[in-house]
Amino acid sequence: MKADLSNQVALVTGAAHGIGLATAQLLAENGARVVIADLDEAGAKAAAAGMKNAMGLRMDVSSATEVEAGVRQVEAQCGRIDILVNNAGINTTNHRVTIDQFPIEEWDRIMAVDLRGVFLVSRAVAARMIAQKAGRIVNIASVLGIVPARLQCAYTAAKAGVINLTQTMALELAPHHITVNCVAPGSTLTAATEKLFYGQEPALQEKARRMLSHVPAGRPGRVEEVAQAILFFAAAENSYVTGQVLSVDGGWTAGGFLRDF
Ligand SMILES: NC(=O)c1ccc[n+]([C@@H]2O[C@H](COP(=O)([O-])OP(=O)(O)OC[C@H]3O[C@@H](n4cnc5c(N)ncnc54)[C@H](O)[C@@H]3O)[C@@H](O)[C@H]2O)c1
Repeated sequence: MKADLSNQVALVTGAAHGIGLATAQLLAENGARVVIADLDEAGAKAAAAGMKNAMGLRMDVSSATEVEAGVRQVEAQCGRIDILVNNAGINTTNHRVTIDQFPIEEWDRIMAVDLRGVFLVSRAVAARMIAQKAGRIVNIASVLGIVPARLQCAYTAAKAGVINLTQTMALELAPHHITVNCVAPGSTLTAATEKLFYGQEPALQEKARRMLSHVPAGRPGRVEEVAQAILFFAAAENSYVTGQVLSVDGGWTAGGFLRDF
């Protein structure tokens, strides 16, 4: 789809790589001035250098100080923020264990980025959007915020929290002409998921086969496909859609359950 985002400033967190990077590219292609905010400062700047009308900055979304400083910098350099995409997110890789063994520090680390991060950046940006009387916020959850899965309790709980936070923010911000929606990706091909699920080794190929057995489309999603859903919610025209969750999952959640993988 195409949207006219000219004269709009879009802040995308975690946009140095993966879904965030594809989203930043798509928003820029549709005319937005894009701010790539990431823990990986060098990656954010390199990504911005490859786009027209983009800037990169370091922002750890779990740090209230860094979030406030980053949002102030965007305001100083761009004057406003029209679109916020809360995309930065992490999951556990080394602790695929049941809750009785799940390390408390790992729970805190994931919650800090995946749920507190969405709260902190939204809190800082919403204050500015309320003053502007306009805005679009798009939160990135996961199908695992809808359908529970074993061995990653912090991630599934954080993503379920992002969905409820989206709806709560939508109620609170609708009177200020700000929409808040959520995109819930299924398994999407990125450098990280390729390493974890979709590599060439036989063990990974078996893991991928099991994972894709519950995806009717029979393949992982592409980052560009997730970015398209984000663009829909970011477009100024879609002003009466708020508090919604759009799964981009090849049909995974249409069945309403998850076979273990
Ligand atoms: N790829 C998938 O299969 C998939 C599926 C469902 C949901 N998601 C969600 O989509 C979003 C993007 O995921 P992705 O697969 O593109 O991940 P990715 O690992 O490719 O990229 C994540 C980006 O976030 C940045 N980041 C990490 N911690 C940060 C922090 N504290 N502050 C700021 N930036 C930080 C990383 O540097 C990286 O650039 C995440 O919220 C993820 O949970 C991804």
